[in-house]
Amino acid sequence: MTRERVPETNVGITGAQIVGMYNELQRGLRDAGRIPIDAILDAKVTCGLALEIGPGPGYLGLEWLKQTSRTELIGIDISPDMIALASQNAADYGLTDRARYVLGDGRRLPFEDGHFDAVFTAGSLHEWEQPLATFCEIARVLKPGGRYFIDDFRRDMNPFARWFLWLLAKPSAMRAGLVSSINAAYTPRELRAMLDQTPLRGATIVEQTLGLEVIC
Ligand SMILES: C[S@@+](CC[C@H](N)C(=O)[O-])C[C@H]1O[C@@H](n2cnc3c(N)ncnc32)[C@H](O)[C@@H]1O
Repeated sequence: MTRERVPETNVGITGAQIVGMYNELQRGLRDAGRIPIDAILDAKVTCGLALEIGPGPGYLGLEWLKQTSRTELIGIDISPDMIALASQNAADYGLTDRARYVLGDGRRLPFEDGHFDAVFTAGSLHEWEQPLATFCEIARVLKPGGRYFIDDFRRDMNPFARWFLWLLAKPSAMRAGLVSSINAAYTPRELRAMLDQTPLRGATIVEQTLGLEVIC
């Protein structure tokens, strides 16, 4: 039986210590090839101007820029500390000409209709206070035919998978946050029900062992 969902706050990850540890965690996952860059490329998110919602330290979008050509990225995050960190990481990658980060909320994207060729987001959905509003915003800012990719944990992952993720989380001080993120994540059924109320109703949900991918 799947546990009840326990929502997280919508303030994002803030504070120098936690942001520093989160950066270390994500850098380790990047170095181990455990960020979903291949899944994004497989979803044919490969060209043009992309929006990343909740980039945190930004490694996914920065790796996407590295592996694609003539692409540009705008990242929007609700946490000023993450915006500062992602901007610094973009400078370290030498990608400030193709990546910029703005403070903002996925519920109200500060962009015109049809502004982006693609939208992607990973590990952030479970934190959104109003996912339906953000799904509607994703549809609004995409060009006709634009592609999107949404990836997050699944709350109904099996206990062995939970344990595997818990072990993987380094520094170990991040483990409590990981458990809280999984407990705030959705099941495939919950996600389908939400998507069906928005313009993303035609999306495919791909069920992975650890998470869910929403693909158009
Ligand atoms: C768990 S982190 C994931 C970061 C990154 N995508 C990754 O995979 O490492 C979630 C990120 O989403 C951001 N976030 C949460 N709610 C948001 C919202 N409503 N709009 C934009 N960003 C949000 C947080 O500040 C945080 O940086």
